[in-house]
Amino acid sequence: MKQGVLLTGGFLMPEVQARLESRFAVFSPDSAGDNAEEVGAVITTGHHGADAALMDGLPNLRIVACYGVGYDGIDVEAATKRGIWVSNTPDVLNDDVADLALALMLAAVRRLPESERYARGGKWEAAGEFPLTERLTGRRLGMLGMGRIGGAIVRRALAFDMEVFYHATARKGDSPHRWAGSAAELARQVGILCVAAPATPQTRGMVDAEVLRALGKGRGEGWLVNIARGSLVDEPALIAALRDGVIAGAALDVFADEPRIPAELREMENVVLSPHQGSATFHTRRAMGELAAENVERVLSGEKPKTPVNNPKSG
Ligand code: 8YV
Repeated sequence: MKQGVLLTGGFLMPEVQARLESRFAVFSPDSAGDNAEEVGAVITTGHHGADAALMDGLPNLRIVACYGVGYDGIDVEAATKRGIWVSNTPDVLNDDVADLALALMLAAVRRLPESERYARGGKWEAAGEFPLTERLTGRRLGMLGMGRIGGAIVRRALAFDMEVFYHATARKGDSPHRWAGSAAELARQVGILCVAAPATPQTRGMVDAEVLRALGKGRGEGWLVNIARGSLVDEPALIAALRDGVIAGAALDVFADEPRIPAELREMENVVLSPHQGSATFHTRRAMGELAAENVERVLSGEKPKTPVNNPKSG
């Protein structure tokens, strides 16, 4: 009998799905019920997650493999207690997420979606030139989080002659960039604040009204870019700051209650919206899927995963 893999959503690319189906019985949440004993692995995302109840319903579960770097929806503590590995897909998505971060910065300060609508709607002809915009080159960038993705964003930002500041839990001894002791201190010093930290209880609501006021400098300046998780930003405070002209604008790939985006954000011209596309290229989604599949294959054949985030054998 083939070992079973439960996929919590239809998110894998066909070739990765085929790789899994060639070795395992692949179940959806609907079909898993009668086959719970067979399931040795769950593949999920930070969004779909895996809680203790799901783990308890799968008595032979040995790994929860996250298809993504952020595993905030997975109860890692519950998994570790039950002797279950948890893995994620770090590194393979750094470049595409960082590309999107730069695209969002450019789109926001150069008002690209708005100017595109202007051109497409015939307003250039009817109403004259589109207004002048701000620039990206030479701006001060504040990185909230300076991990693998943050580093990839900074490498790109340096090509735009940006001056980089960062706030992270620990000062990076080898970093040439200036460290700020808090999110508000960071925001005060920069024109563009980019959120690239993991979603944890400590980072929840980190970008709050105070941070947004610091970003705006009392003059309605400053742009917020978020490619991490919606939970890091106090979304009602952001909506108020945008509505009241506290900051200049925002570019958001992630939201508090995805896929729902508050109507207020959808209506504002100074907000660039993206439907959680950071890693969403063929190339990267293939690489993420292959890595998740490899983690599953390893554990179901008695090895350690390649990219674990816990160690259930340590206790
Ligand atoms: C994807 C992500 O949205 O890696 C992450 O943490 O948020 C993204 O790469 C995802 O996991 C696929 O649904």
